[in-house]
Amino acid sequence: MYTSKRIKGDIYYVGVNDRKTERFENMWPIPRGVSYNSYLIMDEKVALIDTVEISFVEQYLKKIEAVLKGRSIDYLIVDHIEPDHGGSIRMIKNRFPDVTIVGNKKTFDMLDGFFDMQCNKHLVKEGDSLSLGKNELQFYTAPMVHWPEVMVTYNATEKVLFSADAFGTWGTLDGGIFDTDINLDHIWDEMRRYYSNIVGKYGSPVQKALAKLSGLDIEVICSTHGPIWTTDIPKVVGKYDTWSKYEPEESGVVIAYGSMYGNTEEMAETIANAVSENGVKNIVMHDVSKSHASYILSDIWKYNGLIVGSPTYSNQLFPLVQALLDKIQIRSVKNRLFGYFGSYAWAGATHRYFQQFAEEMKWEVVGTPVEEKLRMTDAKLQECLDLGAAMAERIKSYQ
Ligand code: FEO
Repeated sequence: MYTSKRIKGDIYYVGVNDRKTERFENMWPIPRGVSYNSYLIMDEKVALIDTVEISFVEQYLKKIEAVLKGRSIDYLIVDHIEPDHGGSIRMIKNRFPDVTIVGNKKTFDMLDGFFDMQCNKHLVKEGDSLSLGKNELQFYTAPMVHWPEVMVTYNATEKVLFSADAFGTWGTLDGGIFDTDINLDHIWDEMRRYYSNIVGKYGSPVQKALAKLSGLDIEVICSTHGPIWTTDIPKVVGKYDTWSKYEPEESGVVIAYGSMYGNTEEMAETIANAVSENGVKNIVMHDVSKSHASYILSDIWKYNGLIVGSPTYSNQLFPLVQALLDKIQIRSVKNRLFGYFGSYAWAGATHRYFQQFAEEMKWEVVGTPVEEKLRMTDAKLQECLDLGAAMAERIKSYQ
């Protein structure tokens, strides 16, 4: 028997926690799991907002039944149909055959594609309203935050925003569901990692959505992942604003490197020491063979400086370094201070690729790139120290 949690007025939480899945989207490690949030509004008409990933449908239906107490669901509002939220739509339709699904045109195009099922549909457009009795709902599209069909639902009566993926984070809800009931220490890093990896490509659509929502009086944000935001709304919205503008949160340097036998790593260590010696405290180092790229990307979102090192491998960059650069490029990360270094055994190729990357990203290259052959010499040691010092000085003068 599940106990129900009331959020505000007639609004109840009926989401589930996933502590089984190793990788979100089968790519991104989620050591703290993830919650799939869903909400019921128990008015004259009953509305369910989003569903959950299909593996959890049995538990989910029990949670819903505990709140419904014998009533049925009139509307299923699909703010986001990606299967971590749309996965149980068919099961909801099976259990409540008269339910009317609420979505926009893109939602229904995808609904037909995913499920190919007959159902009652209520098509909404930008700014449309739906009355449940006391609760007045308004719908606003938020395309590409993070799929094209995404919309948000604003409960104007309770001043609650159902925000789909926006303002979400990885990590399960371990007892408490409100920001006020949870120790949020680990949440902010996971929220950035979620944002940078999942939503990060769509900075401009996020900016448009934030502008659209800025006119709403919002007291509670109910995302599809993570805590329900009440007191921390300005902080959460502020972080989304910063991240979607690709602005760093702090001054600091990420040093990411690949190294097969330790020579490139020795260069990375030397550069890091020089950055530190020149007064920068925020230095994060990642061996790309050890750190999952999702953590590196999150740190790149946080800090303004990035130094990347690679051995030459088959006349190209070390594959995991290249994969990291590809992820940065796909997300069009802007305005980072960039340094680079490399090593080789017989023919160096890294500078060519790093230089091309910097040009394509339109990033400022800081210091003189270093490339060593076979081992660290006194001359190369000095060049690494100079590169680290140059980055430190540039970081300190960063506006
Ligand atoms: Fe949580 Fe875009 O799905």
